[in-house]
Amino acid sequence: MMNENSVAILPSAPTLVRNRDVEHGFRQDSDFTYLSGFNEPESVIVLIPNRKQGEFILFCRDRDPKKETWDGRRFGMEGAVEFFDADDAYPIDDLEEILPGLMEDRESVYYSIGLNPDFDKHVLKCVNDLRAQSRRGARVPYEFVSLEYLLHDMRLYKGREEIALMRKAAKISVQAHINAMKACQPGVNEYELEAEFLFEFKRNGADWAYSSIVGGGENGCILHYTENSAELNDKELVLIDAGAEYQGYAADITRTFPVNGKYTVPQQEIYEVVLEAQNAAFEKVKPGNHWNDPHNAAVKALTKGMVEIGLLKGKPAQLIKDGSYMKYYMHRTGHWLGMDVHDVGDYKVDDNWRLFEPGMVLTVEPGLYIPAGSRGAKRWWNIGVRIEDDLAVTKNGYDLLTKGLPRTVEEVEAVMTS
Ligand code: GLY
Ligand code: MN
Ligand code: MN
Repeated sequence: MMNENSVAILPSAPTLVRNRDVEHGFRQDSDFTYLSGFNEPESVIVLIPNRKQGEFILFCRDRDPKKETWDGRRFGMEGAVEFFDADDAYPIDDLEEILPGLMEDRESVYYSIGLNPDFDKHVLKCVNDLRAQSRRGARVPYEFVSLEYLLHDMRLYKGREEIALMRKAAKISVQAHINAMKACQPGVNEYELEAEFLFEFKRNGADWAYSSIVGGGENGCILHYTENSAELNDKELVLIDAGAEYQGYAADITRTFPVNGKYTVPQQEIYEVVLEAQNAAFEKVKPGNHWNDPHNAAVKALTKGMVEIGLLKGKPAQLIKDGSYMKYYMHRTGHWLGMDVHDVGDYKVDDNWRLFEPGMVLTVEPGLYIPAGSRGAKRWWNIGVRIEDDLAVTKNGYDLLTKGLPRTVEEVEAVMTS
């Protein structure tokens, strides 16, 4: 996909200090993992089409027995070639010396400026070094092209191996949600349920794909609640949005269930409306339909349901047109899912919603949130419900990656009391 006479440059993710001598756990940049599988910081991928000596160059940290004793093993240049199929590997410390030569006489540079300002400086220095050598005939690349544009379109279409990893991430997450349903009872703290997830993720060689959201009662109405520090009360709901990341691929699942194992009547009313909306959205996930079809179907079902139970008054079509439904449904119905939980890939192409094609993976996650104080809705105060599942588009429809996790009222209550 790259121009014949070009070079692509991609740095690894930076490390980040958490506090004093402690760093945040290192998470490789998703594009970097996608292209190389190489999981070390301080490394750079350089791709050079048609380079006779090899097209894939990896800059990385040199072996260093003393440092490795303190901070862990490194592959070094030999490992980069042996295990990651690099055609050439160089020490990262030599980057500024070697990179100008690799860019010389190349017309285009695929590099995403602005994402990593520290690394931008290295790239700019290399370009300027080349400029300084123009009198000896060095040619400076004349265009910079965003690498993301090509790469993210590739990442949108998942291959068979990628779907298999996503299925595994989903499976681990499904089990964790079931464990949490079983562990839940009045008096348990939100963080205790969060612990069920971390335990299940870790014991399967996975990690979290994003900070788990465990919100009991009114906290379920806060979309990105992550404090997870309140006690769970009898007769309230708990909303859990949590998913694993397995070998770089994410799951993203939400369930909302009664703390004591049995939905109250008002809770069930809201739940059934959201479930209906999710089913309506599922139906729209198939090749030929476009990105916004599931959202439109969910909005329609939610609004109709809200009118039927009396949460909204008026004609559904009008309530959709004037946006009244957004009082209780203020987010969209999903996003692409992949290496990043909100994965890359354009939602529109040439100003039109993108059509679904096999290999795309998305979430479908309608919800309703009715905080205390909502006028005319006292019966439903502090009820927040979201149901979220992960779907891979197939030739004829979709494959539910998150299958096996209770979704209906009956299924949830059965698991909680078993
Ligand atoms: N967990 C983030 C989301 O559902 O989009
Ligand atoms: Mn989501
Ligand atoms: Mn989610």
